[in-house]
Amino acid sequence: MDEAYATITVRVDPERPDPAAIAQAARLIRDGELVAFPTETVYGLGADALNPQAVARIFQAKGRPADNPIIVHIPSFQDLASLTLAIPPLAGVLAARFWPGPLTLVVQRAPHVPHITTGGLETVAVRVPAHPVALALLRAAQRPVAAPSANRSGRPSPTCAGHVLEDLQGRVKLVLDAGPCAVGVESTVLDVTQDPPVLLRPGGVTLEALEAVVGHVAMPRELDHVAGRSPGTRYRHYAPRATLLLAPAGEVETLAARLLDEGRTVGIMTRLPLQLRHPRVRVRIISGDLAQYARELFAALRELDTQGCQVIVAESVGEQGLGLAIMDRLRRAAAGSQGRE
Ligand code: TXA
Ligand code: MG
Repeated sequence: MDEAYATITVRVDPERPDPAAIAQAARLIRDGELVAFPTETVYGLGADALNPQAVARIFQAKGRPADNPIIVHIPSFQDLASLTLAIPPLAGVLAARFWPGPLTLVVQRAPHVPHITTGGLETVAVRVPAHPVALALLRAAQRPVAAPSANRSGRPSPTCAGHVLEDLQGRVKLVLDAGPCAVGVESTVLDVTQDPPVLLRPGGVTLEALEAVVGHVAMPRELDHVAGRSPGTRYRHYAPRATLLLAPAGEVETLAARLLDEGRTVGIMTRLPLQLRHPRVRVRIISGDLAQYARELFAALRELDTQGCQVIVAESVGEQGLGLAIMDRLRRAAAGSQGRE
């Protein structure tokens, strides 16, 4: 049986959150309960990372496979020493440049970090988020907080409190609502137990920015055994209910027109204005650059889904900068989309 809560949503100022709201959230974390909170990437579903019963609630609330490890959030680099006995020199260099920020470092697990948190692995993934609300909560809770994205497993990640409620209403005690997330795609996950480090998931810190600091970064496909070390990549992810198709900007309209001819209700996600008008088309124009695409990506997928689209055509982008993370999420959403026909 799922636990059913009366989920409380508390609005907080993103820059200066009310200390009483933070104290309430921190108390719940210390009591082993679940709290959803904003980070600069996406909303997280947090629990005390060192309390196995609390972490078990995360898996239950999300419907998450038990072997998919969870990122542990800490308020500063100094706190990393409480989670690992061996801080690789590379971790210090990367943290100095990117923390707080959307970079997760995979290091060896200290013995007291529960196996449930690490999905049974001997490593633990850690990051310092760059959001005043997340940092205030982490400081007040005075313990590391395990937090995956606050969506039901397989669904697009939540970039506002409304998305969290769509998926987890009744499954989380408290949602701290600080408005939309600034980055919109999750953190970059980098394994620094190896040299060169291995990019396990592209994200908010670009590969180019990492390479400017550490030189070469290895990709998982260069090292076959790594597949087993990034368990999250095996599962269906980010998928809307509609079938998702990718097309370059110049081909979005033609593909959509063909699908409309076949009688489908079509959603379009693109950065270019379109000529296409049709009663069965829903268009979501994402104005601006890759950062804007990243910020609006998951919200657009959810919105087009809600509008009843059977097929969504999303504009593909070049894999430079944030484009690498955007295409990673779009490809996995496309692979996992089920369709309704
Ligand atoms: O931006 C983010 O990272 C957000 C916010 C809330 O911090 N969190 C997030 O968590 O995206 P989640 O659980 O949705 O994705 C975590 C990813 C998964 O692919 C997981 O397999 C991987 O990180 N991961 C976690 N611990 C790992 C470990 N010890 N070794 C390898 N991969 C790990
Ligand atoms: Mg996730």
